[in-house]
Amino acid sequence: MNSLFICTVVISLLCINTTGAATCHPDDEAGLLAFKAGITRDPSGILSTWKKGTACCSWNGINCFNGDRVITLTVYGQSDVAGSFLTGTLSPSLSKLQNLSSIHFTDLKNITGPFPQFLFQLPQLTIVYIENSRLSGPLPVNIGSLSQFYALSFEGNRFTGPIPSSVSNLTQLTQLRLGGNLLTGTIPLGIANLKLMSVLSLGGNRLSGTIPDIFKPITELRFLTLSNNRFSGNIPPSIASLAPILRFLELGNNNLSGTIPSFLSRFKALDTLDLSRNRFSGVVPKSLANLTKIFNLDLSHNLLTDPFPVLFVKGIESLDLSYNQFHLKTIPTWVTSSPIIFSLKLAKCGIKMSLDNWKPAQTYYYDFIDLSENEISGSPARFLNQTEFLVEFKAAGNKLRFDMGKLKFAKTLKTLDLSRNLVFGKVPATVAGLQSLNVSQNHLCGKLPATKFPASAFAGNDCLCGSPLSPCKV
Ligand SMILES: *[C@@H]1O[C@H](CO)[C@@H](O)[C@H](O)[C@H]1NC(C)=O
Ligand SMILES: *[C@@H]1O[C@H](CO)[C@@H](O)[C@H](O)[C@H]1NC(C)=O
Ligand SMILES: *[C@@H]1O[C@H](CO)[C@@H](O)[C@H](O)[C@H]1NC(C)=O
Ligand SMILES: *[C@@H]1O[C@H](CO)[C@@H](O)[C@H](O)[C@H]1NC(C)=O
Ligand SMILES: *[C@@H]1O[C@H](CO)[C@@H](O)[C@H](O)[C@H]1NC(C)=O
Ligand SMILES: *[C@@H]1O[C@H](CO)[C@@H](O)[C@H](O)[C@H]1NC(C)=O
Ligand SMILES: *[C@@H]1O[C@H](CO)[C@@H](O)[C@H](O)[C@H]1NC(C)=O
Repeated sequence: MNSLFICTVVISLLCINTTGAATCHPDDEAGLLAFKAGITRDPSGILSTWKKGTACCSWNGINCFNGDRVITLTVYGQSDVAGSFLTGTLSPSLSKLQNLSSIHFTDLKNITGPFPQFLFQLPQLTIVYIENSRLSGPLPVNIGSLSQFYALSFEGNRFTGPIPSSVSNLTQLTQLRLGGNLLTGTIPLGIANLKLMSVLSLGGNRLSGTIPDIFKPITELRFLTLSNNRFSGNIPPSIASLAPILRFLELGNNNLSGTIPSFLSRFKALDTLDLSRNRFSGVVPKSLANLTKIFNLDLSHNLLTDPFPVLFVKGIESLDLSYNQFHLKTIPTWVTSSPIIFSLKLAKCGIKMSLDNWKPAQTYYYDFIDLSENEISGSPARFLNQTEFLVEFKAAGNKLRFDMGKLKFAKTLKTLDLSRNLVFGKVPATVAGLQSLNVSQNHLCGKLPATKFPASAFAGNDCLCGSPLSPCKV
């Protein structure tokens, strides 16, 4: 009887082992259950399959290898599903998962606590993404001892303090992502040691000082994002050595100055160049015409002057030259002819044309248009009734003259700003579906349709009446 029982147990254990070992090592199970115990809220049941005594290699997000050891741990919230997040802390018992090689914790949103020390106790760990949560406190000074790591991301947490200089020891790293935290101080010079790095993402912190001239050895770099910090000084010359393969160069919203270096024209693979919201001055180098792969170009909010070069790019997707000292006179032909443009922002660019003469190659992809503060005349009506997915149309401070009562626009439109123009006629009832409207300071007349917009959206017209303005006289 007893031996039969033992026999059955042995057979079933063998069975489990041969059917792909769905059960994991007891240490791994204990570590995972401790992780689950550290989670105090899981409203959408992300960890609902994690139950003691069940086959943990088949729990959601778990992958085992070589029998019973957990190799990868992938837990994510869905940013578009309300309630899909975890509240709690990261259990130090995750250090029991001795064969773990990668951790992906993405969009868990409400995980708090300091830098997870258990990362130092996992000898086979090489890939860690803990993104969009609420980890806080300093990065450990000995972070450099994670020297076997290939990829390290703590994007979108609340880490404070400096980037430890020991990052220079992370010589196997191909990705270092620390964007969207509260980091201060300067970029450590030792980053130059990370010769295999293809992604360096430090945007959205409070980093300061100059951008160090360290890029020459980092020959694999494809993504460089330093936007939304407090960097000052010029673009360092060694960025030039990234020309063959750099695809994303994002330096927007800092305090950078000087001219735009002409070496940028050698960046044959450059897809996205964002130098917006800095203090760059002088003429844009004519040689930028050679950036034939550029899809997204944002030079807005600088002190750049004429002439802006004619680019040879086949199809720009997104262009923002707003708020410089340009006098473009017209919307450039190389822009109008793009078959794929979705965002066109040329506010205060010295454009003096009539929109009646604007014949874009396509209207289908347009999502965003900002032509504010120019001297544009004519009517956007023909353009607006051809778009299908337009979300935003801003043209405040121009000389547009058309009958608003006849205006038709895409159902997708959310923002319409026509303030300070010469628009006449009635305000059509269709504006009620917008999220934001401004038609102040035009020549509109008649009873307003029912909307949620404040009086300032309608102020300064000839004879508009009805709520939120004063009642119409009967
Ligand atoms: C798992 O990790 C242990 C301890 O680090 C190690 O001795 C063992 O060789 C590893 N097993 C595999 C399959 O990598
Ligand atoms: C996030 O966690 C904090 C405690 O750390 C808690 O007070 C708060 O309610 C949580 N937020 C949500 C949306 O559950
Ligand atoms: C970084 O590497 C150097 C030299 O290999 C070593 O002396 C130092 O202790 C390492 N620092 C860390 C934090 O691992
Ligand atoms: C911007 O940089 C200049 C030096 O180039 C410095 O004088 C100024 O204080 C900086 N401004 C801010 C807001 O950091
Ligand atoms: C563009 O690049 C070609 C070589 O690829 C070069 O001959 C030409 O001078 C460059 N044009 C500009 C305006 O720099
Ligand atoms: C767009 O509006 C113009 C002028 O109001 C009109 O002539 C034209 O037929 C309209 N086109 C479409 C596609 O509705
Ligand atoms: C509309 O624009 C005017 C001036 O252009 C501004 O003063 C007013 O605050 C704006 N109102 C709304 C609701 O955006």
